[in-house]
Order: sequence, then C-alpha cells, then structure tokens
Amino acid sequence: MKSFIKITSVFALIIALVSCNSEQRSRKIQYMGDTDMYDAVPYEAYSADHKVFKNGMEAQTPVVGTIARGKVAYDYPNSEVGYQLAKDSLRSPMKFKAPLDSIYRVSKANLAQGKHLYNIYCAVCHGKKGDGQGDLVKREKFLGVPNYKGRQITEGSIYHVIMYGRGIMGSHASQLNDKERWQVTHYVEQLRNDLLK
Ligand code: HEC
Repeated sequence: MKSFIKITSVFALIIALVSCNSEQRSRKIQYMGDTDMYDAVPYEAYSADHKVFKNGMEAQTPVVGTIARGKVAYDYPNSEVGYQLAKDSLRSPMKFKAPLDSIYRVSKANLAQGKHLYNIYCAVCHGKKGDGQGDLVKREKFLGVPNYKGRQITEGSIYHVIMYGRGIMGSHASQLNDKERWQVTHYVEQLRNDLLK
C-alpha cells in the first residue's frame, strides 16, 4: 500500500512538472493539417489582393449575360446612339402588349403610382408640373432643368433617361425598378401633354 502511494505521488509529480513545462504550451501537431481553420488568413474586405479569384477581387461582378432575379434586361447602350435608338424604338410594355387586366397597363392606379414616385424623385428638380421649376431650381441650387414642353421626348427616351441619366441629371435606375420606371414615364408623358394644352 505504501509503495502504491509512493508510485502515485511520483506520477502526480511528473504530470504536474510536465504540464507546467512551457514548451508544451506551443502546439506541435496540427491534426487538421494545413487548413485555414487553425491559421486563418485575414483578408481586408474589398481589397484587391485576393488570391481566391483570378482577377484578385473579392467583390465579383455578375457573370456576363446573366440577369439578377427580379431584374429586367435593358439592352440599349448608355450612349447618344443608345438614346436615339430608345427614343425611336423603345415601347412601353404597358401600352402595347399588356392584356387589359394586366398590372402592366397605363391604368389610373399605375399613373397614380407614377405621380407618387415622380413627386419623390423628380419634382425637386423638374417641378410638380414638369415645368422645370422644382425647389432646387427655385433656390438656384440646380440649373439647366428643362420644361418637358420644350423637349421632343418619347416614352422610350424618358425611360432611357431614367435608366442612365442625361447631361448633369443622374441615373435613377437604382431607385426605381422596371415597372416603376414605366409608371413614372407615363406620368411624365401626362405632365407634358398637360403643359402642351
Ligand atoms: C437633380 C436634378 C434632377 C432630378 C432629380 C431629375 N432630373 Fe431629369 N433632368 C435634369 C436636368 C438638368 C436635365 C437636362 C439634361 C440635359 O439635357 O442635359 C434633365 C432632363 C430630363 C429629361 C429630358 C431628357 C431629354 O431627352 O431631353 C427627362 C425626360 C427627365 N429629365 C426626366 C426625369 C425623371 C423622370 C426624373 C425622376 C425619376 C428626373 N428627371 C429627375 C435634372 C434632374
């Protein structure tokens, strides 16, 4: 029994000494091999030196030829040629192919929604009536805003300008989705017709 206590206490001593040895604290064997789980590689978000992707960029642009879910393709280029093409040939889906009961229709509801959005996004510059006398113009914060009456615009050109902007007017494509752009387009047409009366 005595020798059992002796042996146990010697073992305990050895274990205590070994566990206090500072060398043991550093990791010797990595069971998971060379995975990044032990030694995580910290990358700066959005930095340009990522090795994961071929072009070194972390934030990837969409694959060419793909369209994000819920988005509608727009093929007219952002150029003067694209503007002219859209002006001449882009037609509103609300006008020419919408069945009568479609939500894509120049209906009262769509025009009302167009007015609502126009007053939020466009009226500060273009004025509630489209005469180019928005608050920013009146306060001389923004100049060169036309009266819709004085421009030869079509539904195609209005949509195109909302999409890409024109001159010093910026694009509103990120504020308005496809349907909303058409709603605003038709409301702008209505304003212009009223101004021409
Ligand atoms: C920050 C001021 C500003 C806002 C906001 C703005 N516009 Fe404009 N817009 C302009 C200016 C300036 C022009 C003249 C651009 C030019 O012809 O160089 C213009 C021109 C236009 C034209 C005529 C372009 C042509 O073909 O001659 C249309 C149509 C138009 N805007 C529609 C809109 C609509 C719709 C919205 C809201 C979704 C909007 N704009 C918001 C400043 C603005």
